[in-house]
Formats: sequence, C-alpha cells, structure tokens
Amino acid sequence: MIREFAPAKVNLFLHVGSRRADGYHELESLVVFASAGDELTFEEADDLSFQVSGPFASSLAGETENLVLRAARKFAEFAQVEPRVRIALTKNLPIASGIGGGSSDAAATLRGLSRLWPGRTNLQALWNLGHDLGSDVPVCVLPGCWWMTGRGEQFASIGQVGTLDAVLVHGGGPLSTRAVFEGLGERTGVGRIPKPQRFATIAGLADYLRAARNDLEPPARALCSAVGEELEALAGTKALVARMSGSGATCFGLYSDAASAQMAAETIARDHPSWWVVPTKLNFGRKWEFQ
Ligand code: C5P
Repeated sequence: MIREFAPAKVNLFLHVGSRRADGYHELESLVVFASAGDELTFEEADDLSFQVSGPFASSLAGETENLVLRAARKFAEFAQVEPRVRIALTKNLPIASGIGGGSSDAAATLRGLSRLWPGRTNLQALWNLGHDLGSDVPVCVLPGCWWMTGRGEQFASIGQVGTLDAVLVHGGGPLSTRAVFEGLGERTGVGRIPKPQRFATIAGLADYLRAARNDLEPPARALCSAVGEELEALAGTKALVARMSGSGATCFGLYSDAASAQMAAETIARDHPSWWVVPTKLNFGRKWEFQ
C-alpha cells in the first residue's frame, strides 16, 4: 500500500493583478506547506474506487466528481494504465477553505500513483497534469517554499524562508474561489514586492510580509463574516502576522516559537469551540518521492 500526505497550502501573501484573456488573474504569492494535512492511500484493485473518512468527510458527501478521481483518471490516461486502484482519503482539512485541500489531495494522488505504477512519468509531466486539474494543483505537486506567479502555473523555489510556527483557523463554511475572485474590483498588474531575501530572524520575515497583503481578503470578508472574526481572534494573540490564505476563509497567524503558537491555538479554540483551530509548522522540510 502506498501512503501519501497532502499538506495544507498556505499563501503567506497573495497579490492579484489584472484578469487575463483566458479569464484567470495574474498572481504573485509566496506559498508554503503545513505539517497539517490530509492522508491518502493507494492499493491496486479490480477497479477504481474512492472512500473518504475523517473529520471533514461529510463535507464531500454527494460530490459527483472529486478532484482525486479526476487526478487518478488523468494520471492513468497519461501513463497508459487501467485506473485499477482503491484510493482512501482521510479528510482532515476543511474543504473550500483557501488552504488547497482539494488541490493538495489531487497532487498527492499524482505523486501516489507515480509510485504505485513507477517509471511512467516525471516531475514535469506531473506538473503538466496538475495544471489541467486546477490553478493550485501544480504548486502542490512538490510541496516546498515557492514564489508563484502567472495563473499559478509558474513557480520558483525559494530557500530563504525557514520553518515557521503557525496557527490555522477556520470558522466559516465553504467559500467558492470563483465567487471571491468575482468580488474583486478592476485590478492592475502585480509585481509589488521583491522576492524575499534571507531572513536572519522570524521578525525579519514578519516585516517583509507586512509589506504584502492578500488581495482576496476584502471580497472574502464581504462573502463570509468568519474571515473578519478569525483575523480579530488571531490579532488578540501574539501573532507576528495574521492573514487570510488563498481565497479564504482559513486565516493563519505566525508566531515566534511553537509554545506561543500552541498557546494562541488553545485560547482561540476555547473562545470559539466550533472553529477548526490547528497549531502547525509551515515549510517543515519534508522530502517528497516520485518514480
Ligand atoms: O483554477 P481553478 O479552477 O482552481 O480556479 C477557480 C476559479 O478561480 C477560476 O474559475 C477563476 O474564476 C478564479 N481564478 C482566477 N485567477 C487565478 C486562479 C483562479 O481568476 N489565477
């Protein structure tokens, strides 16, 4: 049995530029991955099947075509194999919440199947397959610290940002990425912040991030009141930076150390018992396998 971890994706900032001829917006984002995530297993079987369990499994009930199944079919078609595989997903991340759960699951499926049926693909091919599945899928194929541009299909590895202590907070329902983008006003180009330099301290990184924004925050706030409440709750802790990730509604706080993150998570969870609140490490340096 092949196991794959699908880490949550966090946009440390997200600048949105003008709308392109293909309908997508130009982006500029610093993307990292969390030690919190979904888990998938892959086993050869008589046909293609997909089971979901875990705390957010019920949110996926009734979905006709999950991104994991689309990724599996796409991979099989490319690799010229019959998609005879039993896929099980443990859904630990809230869905449609700005931390790329579905995209990371799809990317983990590409990775997992490349190991189940080895020798049929390479990293570039997985990136290309990911691109057809969604804007955020390619960056999730090889979780790391990425400077992401274009629609999301261009990215460069950034080695300068170390492991970060963070808290992820989600108190709202699902938010449609498309609806949030539609709430944006007219945009001009991106290119508003230089690529990060090496930061000697977390305070240096926090200063850099404070000069950036998530441009999707205002339209997300307008659609979902939880975004403002989450940011307020994070601001009440020792967060060095508190910001929304992706198209929301999940927000994150960055902390100077793991104990501060733990304490902040406990306080927020106590004050908001119905929220999903997770202390985590970002950019935690795990190695990913392909074959
Ligand atoms: O690529 P994906 O299907 O995940 O994107 C969902 C929606 O988000 C798109 O239909 C589009 O409305 C919006 N989007 C965008 N610009 C991007 C990425 C997504 O406008 N760079």
